Amino acid sequence: MQLLDGKLVSQKTKDELKKQTEALILDGKRPPHLAAVLVGNNGASETYVANKVKSCKEVGFESTLLRLDEQTTETDLIALVKKLNEDKNIDGILVQLPLPKQIDEFNIINTISPEKDVDGFHPVNTGKMLLADDRAFLPATPFGIMLLLEHYNITTRGKRVVVVGRSNIVGRPISILMSQQRNFGDATVTLCHSKTTNLQEITCQADILISAIGNPDIIGADMVKDGAVVIDVGIVRVKDDSAKLGYKIKGDVKFDEVALKSSYITPVPGGVGPMTIAALMMNTMKAYKQTFAK
Ligand code: GUN
Repeated sequence: MQLLDGKLVSQKTKDELKKQTEALILDGKRPPHLAAVLVGNNGASETYVANKVKSCKEVGFESTLLRLDEQTTETDLIALVKKLNEDKNIDGILVQLPLPKQIDEFNIINTISPEKDVDGFHPVNTGKMLLADDRAFLPATPFGIMLLLEHYNITTRGKRVVVVGRSNIVGRPISILMSQQRNFGDATVTLCHSKTTNLQEITCQADILISAIGNPDIIGADMVKDGAVVIDVGIVRVKDDSAKLGYKIKGDVKFDEVALKSSYITPVPGGVGPMTIAALMMNTMKAYKQTFAK
């Protein structure tokens, strides 16, 4: 078994971006600039956004964190996004999800300019992704998974991929990408979800199993074929009084038992999570190049 080390690959990706940013500065240009919007006080979202801002620093990007309180109205958030759309010094905008219940996520995502939509959530980018237009911003987690497969040169062509979870952020887009005619695509993909019958029968056929449910430990060794590649997208905080922060991060996969059966496996933490951030940084550089520096 070999670990798919997201921390290592993310670092390598960020090192390359840092070199590109340094070259831009030497050329007299401003660096790429990401604006991150955080509404409310969701603990996990706070951590994710803090990591995104920290990564911007590491690669030499500028970042602006805009914090709004839990009671913010949809109208106010839309006004802020429109202001960011018009700001020529900002290349990428991300609004951290989930949003408080008084705000309709679709209304916010639809307001972000597709050229600055570095999360790849706007319907224009979803459409471009579906059509395999290279100019699309791919959603960060699926894009990060593709970068990880690429780094370890994992063969996907003709392989059977099973994705568990059909979210708009991970499950559905990764199922689309891996079925496309592209590098690290060309797979035969099955998308499973909460209404799938005989889930185990299907997951046991997977050469590559991608679990994106957010339900700790639901994928055990009995659901995995010998020699499979296992990618765990789950990141859930589970209360643990013995841990320093009072919680532990758990994936969907029972790592210890599944590791014994798999050829490659992602750890949690340190697998897909850091790749999501590296992919976001890549998208921010792409937004800069496609619009500001074109
Ligand atoms: N919430 C969970 N994942 C993501 C993500 O990739 N981007 C944003 N904006 N919010 C999220």
